[in-house]
Amino acid sequence: MSSSNSINEALCLADYERLAKNVLPHAIYEYVYGGGADEISLRENRASLDKIKIFPRVLKDVTRGSTATTIFGEQWRTPIMLAPVAFQRMAHEEGEIATARAASALDVGMMVSTLSSQPLEEISSYLTTPKWFQLYWQLDRNFNLDLVKRAELAGFTALTVTVDSAIHGIRNRAQRAKFQLPDHVSAVNLIHRPPLPTKEFMPDESIVFQGMMSEAPTWEDIEWLIAQTSLPVVIKGILHPDDALKAQKIGAKGVVVSNHGGRTLDCVPSPIEVLPRIRQKVGKDFVVLMDGSIQRGTDVFKAIALGANAVLLGRAQFYALAVAGAPGVAHMLRILREEFEVAMALSGTEKLDDINPELLY
Ligand code: LAC
Repeated sequence: MSSSNSINEALCLADYERLAKNVLPHAIYEYVYGGGADEISLRENRASLDKIKIFPRVLKDVTRGSTATTIFGEQWRTPIMLAPVAFQRMAHEEGEIATARAASALDVGMMVSTLSSQPLEEISSYLTTPKWFQLYWQLDRNFNLDLVKRAELAGFTALTVTVDSAIHGIRNRAQRAKFQLPDHVSAVNLIHRPPLPTKEFMPDESIVFQGMMSEAPTWEDIEWLIAQTSLPVVIKGILHPDDALKAQKIGAKGVVVSNHGGRTLDCVPSPIEVLPRIRQKVGKDFVVLMDGSIQRGTDVFKAIALGANAVLLGRAQFYALAVAGAPGVAHMLRILREEFEVAMALSGTEKLDDINPELLY
């Protein structure tokens, strides 16, 4: 089936997920689709959004309607950004570059993953929209600095540090499918990373606490990082309001309320559930983004109503890329943007500031 046929078959983001299942190798689909352990959080992310109802107002003049917003001084056409999704050449040979071209065409920003399968500089050169670099903390502090300096030089305008997945979580679905990175895909940004020290474990030591977690960042590391860069730092993977407050106190400029798409620790709250408490804690001017199962324009509306400045899209970009490359991602973004405009128009709102909890039932 050609990509234009596939695009014609996709009317909504869930269609892209369904179509992607047919084109992706089973193990790759399972890895991307799956969540942690029993996937309770994965399901709950969707269920929590579904439970919220919009309480629309009618007969308002919305002919000056606009979804525009400003974040860190940059204009966003719509409060939607592509989340950092690793290894996009697993979806399509053109990988992140295709995604970046689509994002630019649709005036949507992109967070580029440390684990991108094409060099961050190359991806950046295709982006004309807000571009943020996502950092996965590396054990060697100086190597983090190298990555940050590269991102600064490449023109990225903010840095997102993901803090919720020092350990990947219990990915049973991916394990069952025997997921492995395909040979042609690798973390090209990390090729000059100093080798990790080999560690011998004593019988009473744990490969979790003394092993993997010894490479994980702490608040002190993030504070250090903030001092090293002029870019605004956004901490991704916050669920607890006290952590959001702590992020704000140490000088982060924003947070992404996220449970990593239900992919890391299972049995945690949905981002949409904790969003209002986080907004309340950090005040109205702090940048709060949210991700987790955003699939419809009405989902975007609900997140904005409950306090998000914008939402991130993770899996949807991977599925659309797998189905139809750059045109697929562009089409998917257009669908979501227009659905969000429909949600705003039919609930009587013409700017993001009009969207508030009183428009939820
Ligand atoms: C994941 C990592 C790569 O969610 O962020 O699989």
